[in-house]
Amino acid sequence: MYWTCCGTGAYLAEVLRRIATNLNGQGRGALAGAEIRRAATERVFGFEIMPAPFVVAHLQVGLTMQDLGAPLAEDGSERAGVFLTNALTGWSRTPNKSIPFPELEKERELAESVKQDIPILVILGNPPYDGFADMAVDEERELSEAYRTVKKVRRPEGKGLNDPYVRFFRMAERRITKGTGQGVICFISNSGPSPGTTGEASAREARKAGIEAAKTRT
Ligand SMILES: C[S@@+](CC[C@H](N)C(=O)[O-])C[C@H]1O[C@@H](n2cnc3c(N)ncnc32)[C@H](O)[C@@H]1O
Repeated sequence: MYWTCCGTGAYLAEVLRRIATNLNGQGRGALAGAEIRRAATERVFGFEIMPAPFVVAHLQVGLTMQDLGAPLAEDGSERAGVFLTNALTGWSRTPNKSIPFPELEKERELAESVKQDIPILVILGNPPYDGFADMAVDEERELSEAYRTVKKVRRPEGKGLNDPYVRFFRMAERRITKGTGQGVICFISNSGPSPGTTGEASAREARKAGIEAAKTRT
């Protein structure tokens, strides 16, 4: 499971609590701790681009694991799967410019190995949204390109496709369709792929890819 923009890790901690509840419900007893640790290090991942929330996310996940009776090893040999990285880029193997700080270079390598090598079934997130955002560039710009060239539905108008949430939907859709071929995407966002709006193009692309869009409002 990937949490695309995990911020301070509140939702990641909740996912781990849910896993613990399920394991306890299955009567896993003493084995539950090892399975929660495996989930936090090998199966549940969070990506965050800003250093401050990234640090808090590690703290929250670490404290939650202690609460659940499954603390990470104190010698630093284990880390939670929370990475300081741009969730929109680095999903395919391309040459990178080197970063002059070895720790950041290492962090990028680890994040990219998760993005490129681990199959994904669930992508969740609360990605940023901004109806007045500037146009994306480079790898991020390509993410909304498919929605600009549609022919059979209303063409996107105005700045709607520059809204960052659109890039996150596209990234998630690509991950599922090019990777596992099945899965769940669930985002909290300001808008979505609705008929009769700029989002219609993205809804069509998603349907072509076999993804049904469901929308709930609260
Ligand atoms: C709406 S907040 C989510 C807050 C989160 N739910 C929490 O509990 O803290 C969006 C988060 O996405 C992060 N973010 C924005 N762009 C990102 C990107 N390209 N890759 C990874 N994280 C990103 C922001 O730094 C921010 O922490």
